[in-house]
Amino acid sequence: MNTVLAYSGGQDTSIAIKWLQENYKTEVITLTLEVGQNKSDLKQIKEKAERLGAVKTYSIDAREEFVKDYINPAIKANALYEGKYPVATAIARPLIGKWLVEIAKKENAQAVAHGATGKGNDQVRFELAIRSLNSELRIIAPAREWDLTRDAAVEYAKKYNIPLSSKTKYSIDENLWGRSIESGPLEDPMNKPEPDVYEWTTSPEKAPDKPEKIEIGFEKGVPVTLNNERINGVNLINRLNELAGEHGVGRIDMIEDRLVGIKSREIYECPAAITLLEAHRELERLTLTRDENLFKEMIDSKWAQLTYFGQWHEPLKEDLDAFINRSQEMVSGVVVIELYKGNARVVGRSSPHSLYDLGLATYDKGDKFEHKLAEGFLKYWGLPSEIAGRRKRGFA
Ligand code: ARG
Repeated sequence: MNTVLAYSGGQDTSIAIKWLQENYKTEVITLTLEVGQNKSDLKQIKEKAERLGAVKTYSIDAREEFVKDYINPAIKANALYEGKYPVATAIARPLIGKWLVEIAKKENAQAVAHGATGKGNDQVRFELAIRSLNSELRIIAPAREWDLTRDAAVEYAKKYNIPLSSKTKYSIDENLWGRSIESGPLEDPMNKPEPDVYEWTTSPEKAPDKPEKIEIGFEKGVPVTLNNERINGVNLINRLNELAGEHGVGRIDMIEDRLVGIKSREIYECPAAITLLEAHRELERLTLTRDENLFKEMIDSKWAQLTYFGQWHEPLKEDLDAFINRSQEMVSGVVVIELYKGNARVVGRSSPHSLYDLGLATYDKGDKFEHKLAEGFLKYWGLPSEIAGRRKRGFA
């Protein structure tokens, strides 16, 4: 048997290589996707996998694809699960699933494997994505099966000379769109995160005392320029993670509802995501009609839920994507943002498709709005409520 394992190079997936060989008598092929995780040295990861007996290793730089097919749709959808979490980990899973299926086909493998546990959302995202693309493949989740306590895992790792990760205090996942941190002392919802939780952001107290102004340009809902210069998506996001991170932007501390029913305490660092989502939403406010803006909030919230719950290939999500893409036709223009002490605040916006009409909006001279007409409009706009009010008072 041949199994393709999604391999991060970390402690758990390293144990999984050995565990699969022992428990499933399978050859293990590893797949490591570069999606912008910090400090991942692909060469070292490859060597580690080989040392643990992987018969073949794949390292694939999927950053461009991640931006184009996963992050950009999330921007257009203003994706924030429960209004707060930019679904960073959630969007990378279906991409990894897709590559697992692809490599399995290429290698004629009968099974694929991932390192997610039985309590989280990630197992759902991996497995729904894999099954949507190939329902024949066997899916193995070692960490869900092996029943190893933390201590037993350490023993197992020692036995096979697997280096223990230094930051076992937290469980961390990273990609371009953000860094997710959970467990350890964070499990008490009253515990304020210690400074060692954060790696991408400066604390707002220590952030520069001067605001930094940046300008982001969008074309049809997709960010394409930074400070008037064209920049590719991967570079833009990396740059914004640095810039906004320095100003302490993008720290999120929340209680989150997982698909499996558990409430969990999550910390995120998403400087680029928070900045871009803020800018994009503001450009929509300028270029979409009132009805579009208000309706799209519902679509966006559903899109984030489906994504969070692993339903990347659910036809409803594709339907929503069609709506969202159509809605972005006019969402082009620039947004000026000030980064300052933990905030990314929009201070200016303009678009060739702006619906803002100064003549209608102004309270100064040049006002084109016909004030008198408001009287008649309000008479009939308020009529249903007026009649209902009269009924409440017994039509006296
Ligand atoms: N709670 C987040 C989610 O479900 C993040 C999970 C991150 N995984 C981790 N190993 N820390 O998307």
